[in-house]
Amino acid sequence: MKKIKIISIVGARPQFIKLAAMHRAIKRNGGLNHVIVHSGQHYDFGMSGQFFEELGIPTPDYNLEIGSGHHIVQMAKCMTGLIDVFDIEKPDIVLVYGDTNTTAGAAICTAKCNLKLAHIEAGLREWDKTIPEEVNKLLTDAVSDLYFTPTNTGLQNLLKDGKTMNVYVTGDISLDLLKDMEYRIDVEKKYTIEAGNYYFMTCHRTANTDHLENLFEIMKTVERLDNIVIWPMHPRTRKAIDSIDKSWSPAHLKVVDTCGFFETQCLIKSAKFVITDSGGIIKECYFHKVPAVIIDKQTEWLETVSEGWNTIAGPDTDKILKVINDWRIPDVHTNSLGDGLAGDRIVKEIVKYCIH
Ligand code: UD1
Repeated sequence: MKKIKIISIVGARPQFIKLAAMHRAIKRNGGLNHVIVHSGQHYDFGMSGQFFEELGIPTPDYNLEIGSGHHIVQMAKCMTGLIDVFDIEKPDIVLVYGDTNTTAGAAICTAKCNLKLAHIEAGLREWDKTIPEEVNKLLTDAVSDLYFTPTNTGLQNLLKDGKTMNVYVTGDISLDLLKDMEYRIDVEKKYTIEAGNYYFMTCHRTANTDHLENLFEIMKTVERLDNIVIWPMHPRTRKAIDSIDKSWSPAHLKVVDTCGFFETQCLIKSAKFVITDSGGIIKECYFHKVPAVIIDKQTEWLETVSEGWNTIAGPDTDKILKVINDWRIPDVHTNSLGDGLAGDRIVKEIVKYCIH
């Protein structure tokens, strides 16, 4: 019998993590052929290659090399690059992940080529179309055939949007990796820090990096924190901070290169508090039961906020510091993001869909 052919299209850091979990689940089912396409949106080793290496993802079958640039150019290059790939591979189904420019470009191209499209992390919303990822979420869900949503909030959003067919609540796919993997990196030794006695910080969303008044607030927060801050810095954030003050380096701040997945997990697990605008890190903090203050005005991971593990402060120094000072361990943790078995659920539904 001919194997079902699945094409996964990825391009940015969080997608490599989701792909790693999906690839394992796909391999557990012997009847599937998995082709991997890297759009090339992220290309530096620290942003791309290191994730493939440490998560054991095979080298992509294709790299579209779209690189950095205007969002429209990234999407357009992704679309034109995929036409040839689809022509050669003739997939039964295409998988896209999350909400990057790669996701939306690949989704539109798949639909225009009359191929079947499954969206992993469907249904999430931030309710603000000035956020680039929100537009990508909306475009992708508009043209998908199968919707794999991590949470009940995602399900409700899809239903309200009239998506009632082929919608599955699977739990979050990134948790599959956290559950499966052994990761022990001695971050205390590596960074000369003490568990429970430092802050872990990340910041890369355009709402913060491209609005200097917000970035100022975030920099002021770092200056006022009472302990060591470990901050793996995204290249765009680095450029934005340098444009304000190239010599900015508070004594207790340790800026490090972008970290791999395992090291990030270890840094989160031992942190006193996490300060972030990354959706992925918000989820990981919840999983590790480490408190996080969100330096963005909204999040799609509402469950983690309603249970009290994460708190939205926005890019506002006083609010961020108040959240950290006032925080108490919440009474509940319902594992609302899933049980780490999303990959197998997704594979099962894909197989059913492709056979019928
Ligand atoms: C993208 C995604 C975001 C995701 C994030 C993960 C969109 C709209 N955003 O944001 O949802 O959370 O990836 O990191 O798709 N750069 C490098 N090296 C690289 C890649 C990028 O230096 O390998 C620099 C370039 O200056 C580039 C900038 O980072 O212009 C932004 O990269 P881009 O891929 O456009 O967006 P991200 O901010 O990484």
